[in-house]
Amino acid sequence: MPARPSPSRRTVLRGAAVAPVAGLGLAACAAPGQGDPAAATPTAPVDLGAETEVPKDGAKLYRDHNVVISRDGSGALKAYSTICTHAGCPIDKLQGTTLICPCHGSQFDAVTGKVVQAPATEPLAELSVKTTKGRIIAGPAA
Ligand code: FES
Repeated sequence: MPARPSPSRRTVLRGAAVAPVAGLGLAACAAPGQGDPAAATPTAPVDLGAETEVPKDGAKLYRDHNVVISRDGSGALKAYSTICTHAGCPIDKLQGTTLICPCHGSQFDAVTGKVVQAPATEPLAELSVKTTKGRIIAGPAA
């Protein structure tokens, strides 16, 4: 009687090797001021649109201008630069009134400009803001 090969119970994982993770992307923004050099806040007043777009206790991110406008419970508007104070990346995400930097995850309060999550330690730069005929005009700090 011929011997039958016994089935192997051993499982061989093929293709499961994972390339080593090198760098973790930290080299992209190693020091303050090394973000996208093209990203900047307005150097002159800009019309951001109807003030009705910013609700009370809310905020709106204007990515094209790197500005966030927030409105507190009393209706007063605030404007901040959305160039991250950690390494200069433009912040591209707003959840509620929390700004989230895509580079290293710093978070800022859009109502106060303060850091709510490191690695950033400095608050966002405040800009001037006013309304004219129902339009929001924001620009460099006065
Ligand atoms: S640039 Fe590093 S968290 Fe924003």
